[in-house]
Amino acid sequence: MSTTGPIGIFDSGYGGLTVLRSIVEKLPEYDYLYLGDSARSPYGNRSFETVYHYTLQCVKWFFDQGCPLVILACNTASAKALRTIQQHDLPAIAPDKRVLGVIRPTTEIIGKYSETGMVGVLATNGTVASGSYPIEIEKFYPGLKVVQEACPMWVPLVENNEYKGKGADYFIRKNLENVFEKGPDIDVILLACTHYPLLREKIEEYLPVGVKLLSQGEIVADSLAEYLGRHPEIESRCSRGGHNRFFTTDSTADFDSHATLFFGRPVQSEHLDLEIPGK
Ligand code: DGL
Repeated sequence: MSTTGPIGIFDSGYGGLTVLRSIVEKLPEYDYLYLGDSARSPYGNRSFETVYHYTLQCVKWFFDQGCPLVILACNTASAKALRTIQQHDLPAIAPDKRVLGVIRPTTEIIGKYSETGMVGVLATNGTVASGSYPIEIEKFYPGLKVVQEACPMWVPLVENNEYKGKGADYFIRKNLENVFEKGPDIDVILLACTHYPLLREKIEEYLPVGVKLLSQGEIVADSLAEYLGRHPEIESRCSRGGHNRFFTTDSTADFDSHATLFFGRPVQSEHLDLEIPGK
């Protein structure tokens, strides 16, 4: 007898709730289990080994909860851990389960939006250093020029509720100036980090006229809907009750207060103790 379970949505913290929000809007009939590894976030500046180790630990937890499918809503985890988990770990620990990320759905479609043949990718240091976006985009749109810009101050601005303040103006302007200096023909900017949609209004203020701004929530939601349509063997194992449960590895009060902003409605999280070494 086959059993069903919720779709797992993973992020280093609460930022992935911007992705879950779009997924729930698009596919409200499924159950979702969200885990934010807030005790160890941000992942953006951590090494490959550390991000891989943390992400794998969380993926295993999702599997223990019965999730047949886990989405890494975090760009940094998608960039630094997904491939190894898919190719090395899954065949050994759960060959019948799937783990997907946010980079591929985005890189599959980004070229459709550019007329000049040059796109800008804004992300954390880790995502930029991994080179995942240029590498993946080249597969789908050979010759499309990708200009990356790491924006390491943007996550702390959002996390510290400064995303509407003057500090945000300073750093947004600075990073946008940098990216357009490197790529004057850019006509698409991708927000390749879970937190950046919260800065959207301010980013739009400093964006040259005619440049399109893409964020990932809807792209990932559309891609998940399509994936489930193409994979009935996974879809039939996703439970359908319309319930969402939220877990954090850190303080639930802190998670809940930020989560409302990212998810757009109140969240009541539960604490998960992952037995973090050295804690
Ligand atoms: N979730 C991360 C991402 O999308 C941003 C926060 C972090 O650095 O952990 O890259």
